[in-house]
Amino acid sequence: MDDVLYEGKSKIVCTGRDESTLLIRFKDSATAFNGEKKAELPGKAQLNAAISNIIFNYLAQHGIQSHVIEVIDKTSVLVKKADIIMVEIIVRNIAAGSFSKKFGIAEGTVLHNTAIEFCIKSDDLGDPMINESQITAIGLAQPQELAEMIQQSLKINDLLYALFAKAGIKLVDFKLEFGRCGGQIILCDEISPDSCRLWDSETEKKLDKDRFRLDLGNVLDAYREVLGRLQNV
Ligand code: TMP
Repeated sequence: MDDVLYEGKSKIVCTGRDESTLLIRFKDSATAFNGEKKAELPGKAQLNAAISNIIFNYLAQHGIQSHVIEVIDKTSVLVKKADIIMVEIIVRNIAAGSFSKKFGIAEGTVLHNTAIEFCIKSDDLGDPMINESQITAIGLAQPQELAEMIQQSLKINDLLYALFAKAGIKLVDFKLEFGRCGGQIILCDEISPDSCRLWDSETEKKLDKDRFRLDLGNVLDAYREVLGRLQNV
């Protein structure tokens, strides 16, 4: 175990126990704006791994299959090797970020229904937005795979919205990735304050990577707050 196969912006992928597994090591690096803004935040790896493990475990208990097999240590998880579908799914409950900017909708506006967006997972292209017919037209996913991803994303949203509400947190939006494994579509990557917008339910204080993106400070204090609250749910 432990030969590096690929180093990404926030995680390192290593060989696993056998051909069908991989070891994922979370990194302390933070990036934003497609890698233009970078920093080392010592302790981020441990916090994101812990938060993602709690969330994936909760989702598994509610019928969502993911790539996670076993937590190895504080910053590493053993996962199933999946054929990653190169489409990122963004789920939005409340307007923020690029949605607010693109459509001129004030940040914090509660959406009439959950909005689903798709982006191509490509740093070279800058993760461009893509629609369902374009995804299937260029073969990034089959129609039934896309339908399955959307169905799972909506279920994950319902489950996580309820979990975070118990922790006194509004789930504003988040990004998911899926992969093909053993004939099934499974949840991959991570779910953490790097990939979600999380606001305190009372004060709307940002408890996620926007603190880094927008230079709001106290980034890891916010991540620690999210972990502490999830541990107490
Ligand atoms: P956006 O408003 O910038 O499009 O981001 C929507 C959500 O997706 C937000 O929760 C942050 C997350 N996200 C990622 O996880 N990775 C990314 O590369 C981007 C741009 C957003």
